Amino acid sequence: MNRYIINGGKPLHGEVVIGGAKNAALGIIAGAILTDEPVTIENLPDVSDINVLLDAIAGIGATVDRVDPHKVVICGKTISSVIVNSEVIQKIRASYYLLGALVGKKGRAQVAMPGGCDIGSRPIDQHLKGLRALGVQCDENEDENCIYASVSELHGNGIFLDVASVGATINIMLAAVLAKGTTTIENAAKEPHIVDVANFLNSMGARIKGAGTDVIRIFGVDSLKGTEYSIIPDQIEAGTFMCAVAAAKGDVVLKNVIPRHLEAISSKLEEIGVKVEEFESGTEVRIVSDENSRLGSSTVRTRVYPGFPTDMQPQITVVLMLGNGNSTVTENIFENRFRYVEELRKMGADIEVKDNKTAKIHGVEAVHGTKIDVPDLRAGAALTIAALSADGTTTLDWIDYIERGYEDFDGKLRGIGADITKETVNDEKP
Ligand code: UD1
Repeated sequence: MNRYIINGGKPLHGEVVIGGAKNAALGIIAGAILTDEPVTIENLPDVSDINVLLDAIAGIGATVDRVDPHKVVICGKTISSVIVNSEVIQKIRASYYLLGALVGKKGRAQVAMPGGCDIGSRPIDQHLKGLRALGVQCDENEDENCIYASVSELHGNGIFLDVASVGATINIMLAAVLAKGTTTIENAAKEPHIVDVANFLNSMGARIKGAGTDVIRIFGVDSLKGTEYSIIPDQIEAGTFMCAVAAAKGDVVLKNVIPRHLEAISSKLEEIGVKVEEFESGTEVRIVSDENSRLGSSTVRTRVYPGFPTDMQPQITVVLMLGNGNSTVTENIFENRFRYVEELRKMGADIEVKDNKTAKIHGVEAVHGTKIDVPDLRAGAALTIAALSADGTTTLDWIDYIERGYEDFDGKLRGIGADITKETVNDEKP
């Protein structure tokens, strides 16, 4: 188990370089095995979820050459097995992408049921509905905790998603690119990483139109070729640093960002008094949060893109916890995403959660350091922000969750003046 020791109350100043988008990278790595030619992926985030997925594809025989922490060359030609069910892969969410990719490539897959953060029930019925519509037989085996999928020939079809699921949209794209005929996904998710995965697959010779809108059309092709592709910057890592500066105060420039992807977050922060400045370069934003004035209050509702992202809900709650006045944060995507509030209360926050859905926040002037635990990835980032803004010292246990999705989080924070150190307590992992 790893922990952070954070001495709060230090404003943040300087520059942070944002890494590649984890959730795009997961879909892209799975997509890379669809061709027998080498695929080079750049701007890869060096985080544990990515490393687990790379190990998983190496485990079924793909060649994985990690040229450097942010660049990998993958070749799916040597894949010899379709069974992905190790203990480690069961812990990550994106194991489900190997279902779509392996049925596309081999017509068969046996993949662990997806894990990931405990933020609600997280069904995969829409993934299975989509794959079945393409002709795939999918059977869930609870005893073996895996899904068996097989198909003799994938054929395109029309699929209407009951919910605009990010995972299901990417999974169906992965299976449909090599199907016979045309697949239409209606009520598709529109998140930036959907567009990035589609652009990546198109660079391999796929024919996907409409990614980023509600309706995606995939015209099946016979084969895909190798490519070189650079992943988009991580919207959520950038948003997390924006909230860190807002809450802990200071003046920080974020480099390697796409400001358009940050608009829902920027506009909320501006509404409560944070200055968000875009530069002409189009790849940087500057965040200024005045040390001498308190931020205001707001109402936030999580929505699918371009709405306020659920993966930023804990971080904005922490910012509003210190604002002047009463705020409300409503979670509309996941059922159980407020577990971190109990930890914030230990620090002196005044927040009440109703029906696991709405947080009523009564802004306090200050919170204090104490010993708290990380319940999941984004909550962990939010609790770190709370600790940076607190008076005194916070011990934050189980930060292994944070390392699933943030590369060198403590190092990047130290680079802008935070007093944060990491300790390894023992070898256990969440
Ligand atoms: C992905 C992201 C996660 C992010 C989420 C929403 C990855 C690895 N994870 O998760 O960080 O928080 O998108 O932006 O990319 N649903 C169903 N049936 C399904 C699939 C989803 O009912 O088959 C529901 C979910 O329970 C949830 C909602 O749809 O209420 C959104 O889930 P989804 O977009 O699929 O999230 P994930 O792909 O799990």
